[in-house]
Amino acid sequence: MKALVTGGAGFIGSSLCEALIAAGWEARAFDNFTVGSRKNISPLLHGTGKSRFDIVSGDCTRPAQIRKAARDCDILFHLAANPEVRMELNNPKQCYRQNVYATYCVLEAFRTSKASTTPPHPRSTGGQRPFPPQRNMRPSSLSHSTAHPSSLARR
Ligand SMILES: NC(=O)c1ccc[n+]([C@@H]2O[C@H](COP(=O)([O-])OP(=O)(O)OC[C@H]3O[C@@H](n4cnc5c(N)ncnc54)[C@H](O)[C@@H]3O)[C@@H](O)[C@H]2O)c1
Repeated sequence: MKALVTGGAGFIGSSLCEALIAAGWEARAFDNFTVGSRKNISPLLHGTGKSRFDIVSGDCTRPAQIRKAARDCDILFHLAANPEVRMELNNPKQCYRQNVYATYCVLEAFRTSKASTTPPHPRSTGGQRPFPPQRNMRPSSLSHSTAHPSSLARR
């Protein structure tokens, strides 16, 4: 399984990439480096799992860039955001663009990317430990969902 992690050079995204690599997955971080840093992913770029990790510099509001990065990925973790809560009051337009519009672009680009839309068969993962735990990850209403909304498996 290969994961695309937006915001992968950020605080949570880089930790998620580390966890995915440790679980035997492949991971691609996608980040525009406005806040994220290559220092956060340095252990991944130079450690034992480096052949299963790469980083793509790009912006979530550019669907073509996401589509290109997602082409060979099976699952998306969307963690790119501007988590600065005060911005919501001071600059709502920028907040909308960086959080709401960026999320729309990411989901739509992932949905329409040319990559396979068939989830991999468990036997094809070569005995990797499942991460996250396997379950029905079909997107559903957030108010009724028990799955974390930031992850979306390909259908
Ligand atoms: N850190 C926490 O304690 C915490 C707690 C709960 C929820 N969250 C949420 O988790 C998410 C990630 O938080 P974090 O603490 O890792 O933040 P962070 O700022 O460390 O990471 C966000 C990353 O996204 C990147 N980014 C921002 N806009 C982008 C864009 N348009 N295109 C590509 N990359 C972009 C930034 O460069 C950065 O690397 C946020 O939605 C945040 O609200 C964080």
